Amino acid sequence: MAEFRLPPNSRIRKGQHFDAANGSANVRRFAVYRYDPDSGDNPRIDTYEVDLDSCGPMVLDALIKIKNEIDSTLTFRRSCREGICGSCAMNIDGGNTLACTRSIDSVRGDVRIYPLPHMPVVKDLVPDLTNFYAQYASIKPWLRTRTPPPPDQERLQSKEDQELINEPAACILCACCSTSCPSYWWNSDRYLGPAALLAAYRWLVDSRDEATGERLDELEDPFRLYRCHTIMNCTQTCPKELNPAQAIAATKKMLAERRY
Ligand code: SF4
Ligand code: SF4
Ligand code: FES
Repeated sequence: MAEFRLPPNSRIRKGQHFDAANGSANVRRFAVYRYDPDSGDNPRIDTYEVDLDSCGPMVLDALIKIKNEIDSTLTFRRSCREGICGSCAMNIDGGNTLACTRSIDSVRGDVRIYPLPHMPVVKDLVPDLTNFYAQYASIKPWLRTRTPPPPDQERLQSKEDQELINEPAACILCACCSTSCPSYWWNSDRYLGPAALLAAYRWLVDSRDEATGERLDELEDPFRLYRCHTIMNCTQTCPKELNPAQAIAATKKMLAERRY
């Protein structure tokens, strides 16, 4: 197996290497970002050889095998293992995705694994999502109403109205989209980013919600919404095949129509 090389001028240093167990026949190398802010050391890349004959098919399977059998200090988030919880989002082979739904076979050569980009790192592959969740909370992601509900039934909506919220409501808040967005990288303190804006859109088009005007007022801001320059990274990277860029464009259109 050729030597693992870091890109030229990288400030990340080369870390430890862990050979596969003797007799392993089907070996792949995983190059994994390691960082512990408390240590005072620069980040490093550790490389692990994993025998795929005794490993599940997904990148998350390999990370779990590494943690269980090779290096218990490796830190990452995961929960559902089936693309539902969003917690295993990370940068694999240069793209943001879910480790539990990305197959090892789909990556050529070494499997390079980094945390979601441009976020503070808590440890290794765990980004600090405090700001991301605060931005989600800021769009008030719940039904806002003024009128009382019908006395004898829930607030109903037609099949067509329900279909409008189907896709945006499928977001699992993994943060792959926001952390792939250049506008979000440079202005995440003021720009809401595609995930929060998709969530905002989900409530704007909900026929039962009675705060559409207030929601649009809260978004009409040069930074919160209009930092989106339609670069489309968000839609390309979404592991659930959602379209936050289209939702943002539709929100801008709603605001434009309100002005004229
Ligand atoms: S379309 Fe907008 S939100 Fe999506 S990546 Fe581009 S700038 Fe970011
Ligand atoms: S829109 Fe897609 S990429 Fe963005 S947070 Fe939701 S599921 Fe993740
Ligand atoms: S572990 Fe839940 S989405 Fe990957």
